[in-house]
Amino acid sequence: MQRDKVTIRQVTKRAGNAPRLAMITAYDFYSARFADRAGVDLILVGDSLGSFMLGYPGTVPVTMDEMIHHCRAVARAAPAAFVVGDLPFGSYQTSTRDAVANAVRLVKEGGCEAVKLEGGAERTEAVAAIAGAGIPVMGHVGLGPQSQHAYGGYRVQGRTAQAAERVLRDGIAIAGAGSFAIVIEAVPRRVAEEVTRRVPVATIGIGAGPGCDGQVLIYHEVVGMHTGQAPRYVKQYAAVGDQITAAVTRYCREVRDGQFPAREHSYLMEQSELDRFREHTGEPGRGADRPQPAAHAGGAER
Ligand code: KIV
Repeated sequence: MQRDKVTIRQVTKRAGNAPRLAMITAYDFYSARFADRAGVDLILVGDSLGSFMLGYPGTVPVTMDEMIHHCRAVARAAPAAFVVGDLPFGSYQTSTRDAVANAVRLVKEGGCEAVKLEGGAERTEAVAAIAGAGIPVMGHVGLGPQSQHAYGGYRVQGRTAQAAERVLRDGIAIAGAGSFAIVIEAVPRRVAEEVTRRVPVATIGIGAGPGCDGQVLIYHEVVGMHTGQAPRYVKQYAAVGDQITAAVTRYCREVRDGQFPAREHSYLMEQSELDRFREHTGEPGRGADRPQPAAHAGGAER
């Protein structure tokens, strides 16, 4: 059944109000279709597509052109969910002018309804400028994977009182600069609860406990379409990767032993046309005496 389009007003109203927001990443047409059919409120075309779509070691190498390519695929799925596109590393840290120009590209060329960027107090100017250009901005505080080299890896943030205070200050600053919602990543649950209590906009947690206004997870980790260890905060709801491997293994076997394609997967022709065709082709060629697999053997063409 077709859902009504989720609007930014519906998203912002959920700050402090039930039900909680369900956001998921999606990077392509069908994952967006399936996620949307399932009823997610927001789809994030995250720069995590670097790892989950493109096989990069992280988000740092992802370019604007790659983001736009995937945003367009998601937008073509025409989801009812509100679509947010991630500004990749290097697209907004260089200047406020770049931040606005690249946010405009994600909306205009990528078909996104909002953009997301990472960072705290140091990003308020960029957030204000993008919002000032009429583009809704989602903040992202706590662990910002684009800064993995500065953190020395993917590390939980805000574990000391001083670090927790910094996460809180970042959240307040980003909300104050005009963001409509904030992702809080990989911080102790009590810290996320405090940010949520102190900011007027919706918070969406990932590895930030149950106290946020919503949650986000990565599509591939939710459906089990990945290899390797997932972070502690992930809950895997299906094992689609195992099903894919089993299906393709069976396909290979059936191709090799001639079970596939069967008669129902083949195009047929009138027997009279086949007889005339054979008259014209003359000498039997390669494989004429090759035994036919059971599925192909015998009988008229129709
Ligand atoms: O890129 C991404 O998928 C994200 C989420 C983890 C919030 O930023």
